Amino acid sequence: MMLEKKWWEKSVAYQIYPKSFFDSNNDGIGDICGIIEKLPYLNELGIKIIWISPVYKSPMKDNGYDISNYFEIDSQFGSLEDIKNLISQCNKYDIKVLMDLVVNHTSDKHEWFQEAVKNPLSKYRNYYYFKKGVNGKPPNNWRSIFGGSAWENIEGTNEYYLHLFYKEQPDLNWENEEVRKEVYNIIDFWMKLGIGGFRVDAITHIKKNFNKILPPDNEDGLCDVVNFARNAEGIEKFLSELKEKFDYYNAYTVGEAQGIDENRFSEYCGENGYFSEVFDFEAVEIDLPESCTWEYDNKWTVKEFRDILFKRQLKAQDGGMQALFLENHDEIRCLNRFIPKENINYYSTTMLALMYMMLRGTPYIYQGQEIGMTNCNFDDISQCRDETTYTNYQILLKKGIDKKTAMERVNQRCRDTIRTPIHWSDNKNAGFTNGEPWIKLCENYKEINIKKQIEDKKSVFKWYQKLIELRTKSKYSDILCKGNFKPNICDNSNIISYFREYEIKKLLIVCNFSSNISEFEINENYKVEINNYDILNKYENGYLLNPYQCLIISI
Ligand code: GLC
Ligand code: CA
Repeated sequence: MMLEKKWWEKSVAYQIYPKSFFDSNNDGIGDICGIIEKLPYLNELGIKIIWISPVYKSPMKDNGYDISNYFEIDSQFGSLEDIKNLISQCNKYDIKVLMDLVVNHTSDKHEWFQEAVKNPLSKYRNYYYFKKGVNGKPPNNWRSIFGGSAWENIEGTNEYYLHLFYKEQPDLNWENEEVRKEVYNIIDFWMKLGIGGFRVDAITHIKKNFNKILPPDNEDGLCDVVNFARNAEGIEKFLSELKEKFDYYNAYTVGEAQGIDENRFSEYCGENGYFSEVFDFEAVEIDLPESCTWEYDNKWTVKEFRDILFKRQLKAQDGGMQALFLENHDEIRCLNRFIPKENINYYSTTMLALMYMMLRGTPYIYQGQEIGMTNCNFDDISQCRDETTYTNYQILLKKGIDKKTAMERVNQRCRDTIRTPIHWSDNKNAGFTNGEPWIKLCENYKEINIKKQIEDKKSVFKWYQKLIELRTKSKYSDILCKGNFKPNICDNSNIISYFREYEIKKLLIVCNFSSNISEFEINENYKVEINNYDILNKYENGYLLNPYQCLIISI
C-alpha cells in the first residue's frame, strides 16, 4: 500500500491506446511489450501515470471494452507475465499504471453470460438484466447508446437482455450483491499486482431506473437510454460501496462521468467523493450537436467554451477535482476540434496545450497529442474499423446524404480518426510496425513524428515536456497542482485567462485563442515565465498578443 495519501497529486498522466501505441512483434497490432519498449520515451516526456485502455481477454467487438475474462490478457496484447513486467518496469521510472475498469457490462462471450443464456436457472441469469418481451417486442422503448433497441432477444424465446452499448456488451446487474462482489474481486486482483488505480469506464450507467417511462424522442419509436440509466437515482449506494474498496488500497481513480451535473462534483470527486477525479465532458464536447447522429455544426464560440470551462472549474473547486483532457480514444483530435484547419500550427497547438494543462486537476495527454497529431482522413468507409462509424455512416446515407459528404462527416466525427497508430518516425508505417498495421496511418507522419520533434530544439513535444516539468518538478508545482483557480475575465472574448494561486504565490495564464492580434491589458511589468513566441509586443495599456500567443506570468 502506498504511504502518501495523494500520491498522484503532482502527476501528469498519459493515455495509451495499446492497439496503436507500438507493435513489438510486427503483427500490425500494438502490444504490452511495445509499451515496455517505449517506457524510456514516456519517462523523457515526464509523465508519472499511464492509463492503459483495456488489454484483457476480449472478442474485440469494441476494441477491448467488451471483456470476456478480467484476469487474463488478450493474446494479441501479450500475457499476464508481460503486464507484470510492465508494472515493475514502470516502478523503475516511478510511473504508475492505471487499468481500465470496465464493469458496467461484460462481453457476451464472458462465461457468466454464456452460462446465463444457456441455463436460465443458473445463478448467472441474475448477473444480467433479462426481461420478457411485450407483444413480441422488447420490454421497453430504450435506445442503446450505440443505436437501435437496448434489448436483444434470446433466439427462440420471449426473453430479452439489456445492453446499453453494443449487443455484444450485456449490462451487469449491479442490484445483485454477488455481481458487486465479483467486481471487488477484480479490483483486488489488479491492485495486488501493484497498479496505482483505475480509469473507471461508463460508471455513471450502472444504475437503471425501470420505473421511469418516457415517450419516443425520434422516428425510430425509441427513447435515449441515458434518460433512464445515467446517474439514475440510487446509483449512490453502488458508488459508495465501490469507493470503500478503492480507499482500502489508496487507489487513484478517475471516473468516466458523462453527464454529471456540476453541482454534484463534491459527491463524485470531492475530498470524500466516489472517485479521486472525474472526466467531465461538457467543455470538450462543445461542438457536439444535441442529436447523436453526425450533424456538423461548428457554431461554438471561444467565449462559450471559456464560460463552460470556468463554470466547471469553479464548481469543482468548491470541493472536487476534474481530470483535465482534450482528447481520448472516443473523441477526435483536439486540433481539429478547436482550431480551424488553416490555423493549425506550432502556436495554436502550444496555446491549446497550455490553456488546459495549467487548469486545476490532473492533466491527461492522449497518445500522439504531445506531438500535435491530427485527425486521420479516411477515403473510404472500408478503411474504418469501429462499428459505430459504420452505423452512423449508414444513417447518413439513409437520410439521403451523398457518399462524399457522408465521408466528410466520418472524418470529422468518427472514433477511428483518433485511434490510428502514433508516429514514431518517418520510416515505413511511421515506425509503428514492420507488419501490416491494423488500421490506416495518418498521412502526415513524415512531417509530424516523435523522432523529428525530439531532435528539434523547438517542437510541440518539447513544449509538452516543458509544461509537464512545470507541474511535476518546478518551483511552480505547488501553485499548479494545489493552487486555487480564479477566472480573469477579459473584455476580449477570444482570450482565455485565469489565475492560479497558492499561499502568497500567483500565476497568471493568458491565451489568445484566436488568429487575430489581441490586446491584453496589464499595467505592471510582471515577469513573463513562459511564452510560445520569442517576442512579446507591447502597447500603452499592456501586451499585443500575436495569433494564438500564450503566456505564463508570475505575479
Ligand atoms: C466508454 C469507452 C468507450 C466504449 C464504451 C463502452 O465510453 O470509453 O470506448 O465504447 O465505454 O464500453
Ligand atoms: Ca503486436
